[in-house]
Amino acid sequence: MVPLKRLFTSTLGRKYLMGASGFALVLFIVVHLLGNLTLYTGSGDAINTYAAKLDALGIGKLILELGLGLTILLHVVTAIQVTYSSKVARAVQYDAPKSKGGPTKNTVTTRNMIITGLVLLVFIVVHLIQFRFGPKIEDGYTANVSGVMVHDIYRVVVETFLDIKNVIFYVGSMFFLGFHFRHGFWSAFQSLGMLNPRWSKPIYCLGFIIAILLTVGFLFMPIYIYATQGGAQ
Ligand code: HEM
Repeated sequence: MVPLKRLFTSTLGRKYLMGASGFALVLFIVVHLLGNLTLYTGSGDAINTYAAKLDALGIGKLILELGLGLTILLHVVTAIQVTYSSKVARAVQYDAPKSKGGPTKNTVTTRNMIITGLVLLVFIVVHLIQFRFGPKIEDGYTANVSGVMVHDIYRVVVETFLDIKNVIFYVGSMFFLGFHFRHGFWSAFQSLGMLNPRWSKPIYCLGFIIAILLTVGFLFMPIYIYATQGGAQ
């Protein structure tokens, strides 16, 4: 175990934080996908009711959102720090007799993780602007669910995905999510020191399967809405 004060300052501690925050984000993404599956019902009622239940948590929702924001921040910052320190460590190693040949498999994977991660960060910022901070009840986005007036988040989603540019952006981003997740899931076990060599391959396969399910699950939402011109509204 890494002592608390070294958690934020040592490479090992930062790896722990990167792995733990990665796991928390996996949990969020899985719950988010399950909630969003209500979009496939073809009517806005299910997702609007789901969103209204979350809104009803009031301050509780705000606390969850702040926790999520901090977790994303922690994951990004520690990932950049860990990548930077392993780059410096490699540069020191290579200072002795210069290494021949191209980058190692590890270097390529790390570089891929930081690139796919940064693309996802851009995706999340755009996504939040469009959905979280998009049109609200005050802007006339209201729906009547069983006699109760709620925020019509379904209309926000549908209007977004009726624009082909957004569909392409979301579909493209979901491939980056899949690639990031495929290695990240296994890597989080390793960062937390939970990877028994015997379980390494099965865990990599599990990450691969979850990555495909997440990518496909999210990716078909914009396509479905665009193809059906707004579901069965
Ligand atoms: C087609 C795919 C997706 C759809 C349709 C979708 C839809 C939504 C909707 C409707 C909201 C709620 C906005 C609100 O209630 O104010 C939301 C919030 C959010 N989504 Fe997505 N999402 C998708 C993919 C993703 C992915 C892949 C990620 C992460 C990598 C993500 C991260 C978030 C975050 C961080 C929030 C803010 C949560 C909050 O503050 O309550 N979403 N999304």
